[in-house]
Amino acid sequence: MKLDLCYNNFDFIIIKDSKLSYKILAKKEICPNQYEIQIEAPYVVRNAKAGQFIIFRATKDGERVPLTIADVDKENGILTLVFMAVGYSTKQLAGLNVGDELADLVGPLGQPTHIKKYGTVVCLAGGYGAAPCYLIAKAFKEAGNKVYMIMGARTKELIFWEDKMKDACTELFITTDDGTLGEKGFVTQVLERIMNNEKVDYAIAVGPMPMMRAVANLTRDKGIYTEASMNPIMVDGTGMCGACRITVGGEVKFACVDGPDFNAHEIDFDEVINRTKIY
Ligand code: FES
Repeated sequence: MKLDLCYNNFDFIIIKDSKLSYKILAKKEICPNQYEIQIEAPYVVRNAKAGQFIIFRATKDGERVPLTIADVDKENGILTLVFMAVGYSTKQLAGLNVGDELADLVGPLGQPTHIKKYGTVVCLAGGYGAAPCYLIAKAFKEAGNKVYMIMGARTKELIFWEDKMKDACTELFITTDDGTLGEKGFVTQVLERIMNNEKVDYAIAVGPMPMMRAVANLTRDKGIYTEASMNPIMVDGTGMCGACRITVGGEVKFACVDGPDFNAHEIDFDEVINRTKIY
């Protein structure tokens, strides 16, 4: 058996059996241009926890692209990813079919979401940020929390996994910008209502930067500890290239090894948004 060495962010070496394939076992378009794929990846899912991510290359000459883990089937070694086919590499991934193999896949990377019993937890999911929120909400619920999940999207067609989300949380709220499903408006208005009605102990936002910044601004005023799952540009995913650096509480942090979840009240969102625009 030929073994390759590869490194993750915990300073130890993962032995990777090079005979292992990352075969696509299932693929479906769950929303326009948004895909759910299931990949054979037993070594990756074995230790995967909510909030962690993987880096894939669809082809040998492809770019390395991070995606947060959407779901895992540990028993059968199956990893589920959800992604939008917007850039070159995600379009390459969307172009693969059941039976095809990814060139490589590394993970789990990053620190897991800080799951513990807080009391009342609100998970806010924007766009395809809803996918990682599934495992996060489920883990918080299993830890004994009351979990509200607020999923937001531009329109009804972009809402997915509604049934799965209902199972993962205590109560699910849906908002759409155009009012075609759930409440018309944004996730923040539901959050505001919940905060006005009861004590919230912890909030986590996963989605576009402006949405996470808006959540942070709301909860800051109420003194509710809030984390945001950061998804800046990443290259190596192991803390060596610096591409994913962000400023948190005045200190430089690397989203790939120190995060991706950080105290949302201390993140310099303007800096991250400006850096993202460069690429
Ligand atoms: Fe290179 Fe984080 S992606 S340091």
